Amino acid sequence: MSPDFRTPDENRRVHQAAFFERLHGEAPASVLDVGCGSGRLLELCAAAAVPAVGVERNEAKLVGPRGSGRAVLVASAHALPWPTGAFDWACMRHVAHHLAEPEAAVRELARVCRTGVVIAEPWRDPALPEQRTGRHIDEWMKRQDRRAGHVHETDIPPATLAEWLAACGAWDLSITCRLDRRLVPLDAVAREAEERLERLPPDDEDRRAWVQLVEDIASTNAGCNGTAIVVARRRG
Ligand SMILES: C[S@@+](CC[C@H](N)C(=O)[O-])C[C@H]1O[C@@H](n2cnc3c(N)ncnc32)[C@H](O)[C@@H]1O
Repeated sequence: MSPDFRTPDENRRVHQAAFFERLHGEAPASVLDVGCGSGRLLELCAAAAVPAVGVERNEAKLVGPRGSGRAVLVASAHALPWPTGAFDWACMRHVAHHLAEPEAAVRELARVCRTGVVIAEPWRDPALPEQRTGRHIDEWMKRQDRRAGHVHETDIPPATLAEWLAACGAWDLSITCRLDRRLVPLDAVAREAEERLERLPPDDEDRRAWVQLVEDIASTNAGCNGTAIVVARRRG
C-alpha cells in the first residue's frame, strides 16, 4: 500500500499509541480505561508496568483482554462502580460519541480519579478537502447506525469536553489535535459501508447519498481521522 494510505486498523493503532504516550507522560500510578474495547491501552500499560483496569459495556469485547490476564469489568461509563478517587488517572479514548449521556460519563471519570483525566475523540481538519470527505463518510455511517438503533453521535469537540470537565473541578487543561494526513483506501471505506447499505430499502435517499460520497472520494480521496486529546490535571 502506498505510504499515503492507511487502513482504519493501522490508523487506530497509531493513535492508540499516541494516546498512551500522552497518558504515560503524566506518570500515572494507576489507570482506569473506560470503554476499553479489546484492551489495546491495557496492553500498553502492562508493557510499561502501569497498573490498569478496563471497564467496558460489551462483554464480548473482553474475551481477549481476560485471556491475557488483564483486569477488566463489565459496567457502564455512566455509572462507574468505584468509589471517589479510586484511581490515579481515568481515561476514555474514542468512546464519548457512543454514549447517550457523555457529560455524565465525563463527571464519572472526574469523580473516580485523584490526579487527572485524559479523554480523546476523533478529530478532522475542516480546512482540508479529503478531511471534509472523511467527515461526510463518517456522518453517513453514523446515520445508518442510528437508524439501526445504536447510539453513534457526532464526535464531541475537545472544547466541549474541556467545558464539561471545568464544570466538575479545577484543572490544568491541555488540548492536542493530531492528524497524520493519511488517506483511507477506497476498499476499506466500501467494506465499512457494505452491511449498512444492505439494510437500506432500494429507493432510500441514503443510497443516493452514498453514490455521491463515492464520487467525492474519487475526486478528493477520504482522509483518515485524527484525534483530539484533552488532558486535565487537578490543580493544587
Ligand atoms: C470506538 S470503541 C473504542 C475502544 C477503545 N477505547 C479504543 O481506544 O480502541 C468504543 C467502545 O466504547 C464502548 N462503550 C460504548 N458505550 C459504553 C458504555 N456506556 N460504557 C462503557 N463502554 C461503552 C463500546 O463497547 C466500544 O468498545
